[in-house]
Amino acid sequence: MDVIGHGVDMIEVARIARMVERHGHRFLERVYTPSEQAYFKDKKRIFEHMAARFAAKEAVLKALGTGWSGGIGWTDVEVIHEPSGRPRIELHGAAAGEARERGISSVLISLSHVDKTALASAIALG
Ligand SMILES: CC(C)(COP(=O)(O)OP(=O)(O)OC[C@H]1O[C@@H](n2cnc3c(N)ncnc32)[C@H](O)[C@@H]1OP(=O)(O)O)[C@@H](O)C(=O)NCCC(=O)NCCS
Repeated sequence: MDVIGHGVDMIEVARIARMVERHGHRFLERVYTPSEQAYFKDKKRIFEHMAARFAAKEAVLKALGTGWSGGIGWTDVEVIHEPSGRPRIELHGAAAGEARERGISSVLISLSHVDKTALASAIALG
């Protein structure tokens, strides 16, 4: 396995809270998959987890080297939550296609968040 790309992203938690207040359900549906939304349900610091996943999606796009081009949507990059708590990336739709074209077979992700900031680092392997 070779490292093909690396991306990081950092985001203010308050930015996500504002988006949810302004656009509510529409924002959540556009950005997060049903399984990501289910993960938020019982969380006390819900906006931190949302912000971390928002950062994860942007970090993955950087690792793929595409940016938000070629019709990639937010839900094409999904953060899966393993029983251990470890996050894992699944790519769908246009994001999966772009990854295949670049010879990327998997993307490692790591998340971190505090009250004001969330951060994600993604490494594309292939
Ligand atoms: C993983 C761990 C080091 C996180 O460190 P932290 O400084 O508390 O928190 P951070 O904000 O830096 O990281 C949180 C993120 O770590 C990630 N994470 C959690 N468990 C993980 C694991 N086993 N391996 C890799 N990443 C993990 C998650 O993505 C989490 O964010 P999310 O809940 O939004 O998905 C710590 O929670 C830990 O040791 N967990 C092991 C399981 C555990 O003890 N669970 C009880 C928690 S109350």
